[in-house]
Amino acid sequence: MNQLSVQHLLGIKHINKADIDLIFKTADHFKEVINRPIKKVPSLRDITIANLFFENSTRTKLSFELAEKRLSADVINFSASQSSVKKGETLIDTANNILSMKVDLIVMRHPHVGACDFLSKHVNARIVNAGDGTHEHPTQALLDSYSIREKLGSVTGKKIVIVGDVLHSRVALSNIYALKLQGAEVKVCGPKTLIPKYIENLGVGVEPNIRKALEWCDVANVLRVQNERMDINYFPSTREYTQLFGINKKLLDSIGKKIVIMHPGPINRGVELTSDVADAEQSIILNQVENGVAIRMAVIYLLAEQIKRN
Ligand code: CP
Repeated sequence: MNQLSVQHLLGIKHINKADIDLIFKTADHFKEVINRPIKKVPSLRDITIANLFFENSTRTKLSFELAEKRLSADVINFSASQSSVKKGETLIDTANNILSMKVDLIVMRHPHVGACDFLSKHVNARIVNAGDGTHEHPTQALLDSYSIREKLGSVTGKKIVIVGDVLHSRVALSNIYALKLQGAEVKVCGPKTLIPKYIENLGVGVEPNIRKALEWCDVANVLRVQNERMDINYFPSTREYTQLFGINKKLLDSIGKKIVIMHPGPINRGVELTSDVADAEQSIILNQVENGVAIRMAVIYLLAEQIKRN
């Protein structure tokens, strides 16, 4: 198969294992390209892409923009805080005005669950979800699995624990879908208040003890505590959270094996991870960021190929 089964990348829930394999194969090629002295290919010279960010981002926004430029696409960037959204313009009006400028593909981050799905039904452009509220962040999950595959040779059969604020995390849900599609075993570990009640229906185990979770896993993907999404207190204090679920070097060194440490960023240093863990040799946090560019090049390239074929 050399085509994606979907026209938009709205979530991992909508794709299949063959799509993931195709994205990874394409990303392998682009990873080789971005490590050459000339890091650009002319593949998307006739494609225009708009990056619509209605919520803050560092990694995802820069990574998409770099990926698009490495593919030679024309790129326009939109940030809601500096736009007419502040004057009351709707999402559809904003998107349609941008599309009038002959845009082929939209990458969108939005605080509301389902915003990308909604947009895909109302505008004539391909949509890539760069994070919609607490729902999905598909390219993050793809780059996470790609980084595990790079480090451990395969995702299939590996034991992955997702640690922390699962309830508010789009990274967690997309990772669970992606990891399960590839045949990994997945557990979550965190305060009971931050673990969704439906989690076991997704084929995911719950391990409330961080030491036991680390002793079980090959990889710990540690999430940020998303204080900005918490309207009530989910745990008594940050200090208590860190004592019960934070990973420090002493804990990591005491489990008797070397596990891989991941984090999607941004890190609350000293809360979910101490700096000596974030920067440890077994941490692949910056490899995740590097792989993000190759993964996003692959996703955009494959969707753009469909546009060219139509
Ligand atoms: N991982 C991630 O989505 O980071 P940003 O919010 O900085 O894009």
